[in-house]
Amino acid sequence: MSNKLTIDWDDFLTNYWQKKPVILRDAFKHFVDPITPEELAGLAMEEEIDSRIVTNKNGKWDAQFGPFIDFSHLDENHWSLLVQAVDHWHEQAATLVEPFKCLPQWQFEDLMISYATDKAGVGPHIDNYDVFIIQGKGCRRWQVGDRNEHYKQFSAHKALLHVENYQPIIDEEITAGDILYIPIGFPHNGVSIGESLSYSVGFRTQTSQELLSGFADYVIDNLPNGIFYQDPNLTLPKDSYRIQSYELEKLQNQIIELVRTPKLFNDWFGKHITIPMHELNIVPVEPPYQFDEFVSLLKTNNLCRVPSIRILKVGDYGYIHGEKIHLPMPVIDLLCQEEELYYEQLEDESTLKVILDLVNKGYWYFIED
Ligand code: SIN
Ligand code: CO
Repeated sequence: MSNKLTIDWDDFLTNYWQKKPVILRDAFKHFVDPITPEELAGLAMEEEIDSRIVTNKNGKWDAQFGPFIDFSHLDENHWSLLVQAVDHWHEQAATLVEPFKCLPQWQFEDLMISYATDKAGVGPHIDNYDVFIIQGKGCRRWQVGDRNEHYKQFSAHKALLHVENYQPIIDEEITAGDILYIPIGFPHNGVSIGESLSYSVGFRTQTSQELLSGFADYVIDNLPNGIFYQDPNLTLPKDSYRIQSYELEKLQNQIIELVRTPKLFNDWFGKHITIPMHELNIVPVEPPYQFDEFVSLLKTNNLCRVPSIRILKVGDYGYIHGEKIHLPMPVIDLLCQEEELYYEQLEDESTLKVILDLVNKGYWYFIED
């Protein structure tokens, strides 16, 4: 059974999204945890899955990174286990991100789940992303401060960046089904009251620095001929040692024109933004299916998309997992909207050939009957 989210998105976006933190009480009515602490611990034993245990016994902070083989050394309290991108690996937990699919999917990062014992938390800190923290089993006290770029941050441990004391603007306990939304940059601290589970649905964007450097790499690789600055209307300047303001403007435009070239920018962004932020459960088909074999399998079995593989549309094209999909937009729409595909939707031979390639790469897989 999936949990049902009740939220007035218009009100939320107008008043809170990237503006201020808020507690949405009882946003999931009768919330049922989609995963058990034991299952979470099992995921933390896997090589491909990012996990960490944070302890804060007697005010001393420590962090250990998975995969873990044993949890028996841990005390009764003051520790929490945090597992990243659980939506990639646990089908039932992944249903929690469904209600957030109305938000721009290119900004979605992952579902992080934390299991905390009494008095545990990761300490007061500031995140570089927006997060909806859904409270599951148990209870947590959250103190959230206002945004202020002057807060001092320091390493409480080499893997834990904490923030100095701040005045809380929210200081409340949340229980199962409540959501705490925290925009990027607001300091916060959650301390578990008894045993608890929290589900963090994260949305992350890119800095100008990341955009510039990623786009520059793409231009260098895909535009082999250099574009040289030229000024055929040059007249003798008064001061030939001074770069004139119109020349600076021309130089800026030289760069801006590249950014404004859709063929370059859109193509780069489509590829760049569909590169996964966390490891995915992708298993290429070995040996790859041949066309006839693939078609006959598809006539009897549905295809399922790898959970949380990044598929997005930019302009007239679709992109998946860092590559362009060479299919018409109605098919791309289908690939985005439907997690399961069946033969009658894809019958056309050229479409099937492209889908075969994507299946052989492991982006969709056959559901066994
Ligand atoms: C946690 O779930 O323990 C930490 C979440 C956060 O503060 O970002
Ligand atoms: Co945080």
